[in-house]
Amino acid sequence: MTGAVGQIGTELVQALRKKYGTDRVIATGHKTKPTKAFIDSGPFKYLNVLDRDQLDNMIANNDVGTIYHMASILSAVGELNPQRCYEVNMGGLLNVLEVARIRKLERLITASSIAVFGTGAPRDNTPNDTILLPSTMYGVTKVAGELLGTYYFQKFGVDYRSVRLPGIISSATLPGGGTTDYSVEMYYAAVEGRRCTCFVREDTVLPMMYMPDAIRSLIELAEADGSRLRHRVFNVSSMSFSAEELEESIREIIPTFACDYKPDYRQAIADSWPRSLDDSLAREEWNWKSTFDLPQMTKDMIERLRQKLAK
Ligand SMILES: NC(=O)c1ccc[n+]([C@@H]2O[C@H](COP(=O)([O-])OP(=O)(O)OC[C@H]3O[C@@H](n4cnc5c(N)ncnc54)[C@H](O)[C@@H]3O)[C@@H](O)[C@H]2O)c1
Repeated sequence: MTGAVGQIGTELVQALRKKYGTDRVIATGHKTKPTKAFIDSGPFKYLNVLDRDQLDNMIANNDVGTIYHMASILSAVGELNPQRCYEVNMGGLLNVLEVARIRKLERLITASSIAVFGTGAPRDNTPNDTILLPSTMYGVTKVAGELLGTYYFQKFGVDYRSVRLPGIISSATLPGGGTTDYSVEMYYAAVEGRRCTCFVREDTVLPMMYMPDAIRSLIELAEADGSRLRHRVFNVSSMSFSAEELEESIREIIPTFACDYKPDYRQAIADSWPRSLDDSLAREEWNWKSTFDLPQMTKDMIERLRQKLAK
């Protein structure tokens, strides 16, 4: 796995190791420093995805069959440094696709994003196959990445598969600079007894997903019967709520919690994204179904963060 020390990678590594065995999953990271517990939990190596030789040697020397490619620069950070975002997201993907092609790997799984949508796409119940005109560099790289992966499948037979994840909420690892990070920040503030300052307006509605569902979507797509797949890239949906609805759901458990809304440059990004997704193709082609709703997620997040902060 590339980008394994990130928000999704840390939990995906654990889930894959539980399923397939600790030594069969090699976690790789770049600049984000892993904890000692993470390093001790199984094979870990440093890998810059822009270094194709290093990547190729690692694949060849470890008999790798599948790459989970999670290394990326996310939307908000990407808008602050669009050139770096392009370099890492496109260069890294091209490298893993090339290695997958040359080494004839079994499969390549990536995480695309709701950031592929933009002007012209319906914002409610956004279909899988619709106009893709993103207004962020992150979105540009995700659209181009989907096209590149699909091209490698059609031209070279690389079994590239990708889910378009919504905003991911989790308690184990902090998010890495995306536009939906305010949701995780709200939970931390609530559990720490702080007032929260949210960087989008209270009426901002975005699609979100709790980490266990996100992990399951990546693994279930990886394991899906290829003969049933008519697409390479899938919307996956779970829940949609406004920032204010999230605040209210937290207040159901922590009644004193309060939030101020001070939108910054990330509001424009949020306003260009869907409010909800149509994931019927994922349901049809590989039986996707999410499990958590907002109250269940809030209860679980608060319990886990309380345990974490108590330590
Ligand atoms: N977290 C979300 O809400 C969300 C939503 C939709 C899609 N995604 C996608 O899921 C994937 C994983 O996202 P995440 O939230 O875990 O991101 P993250 O920012 O938490 O982790 C990404 C990791 O990539 C690493 N990285 C950056 N440059 C690298 C390089 N040159 N070589 C190797 N590693 C490098 C970073 O050090 C970081 O640890 C990404 O493709 C992201 O676009 C995430």
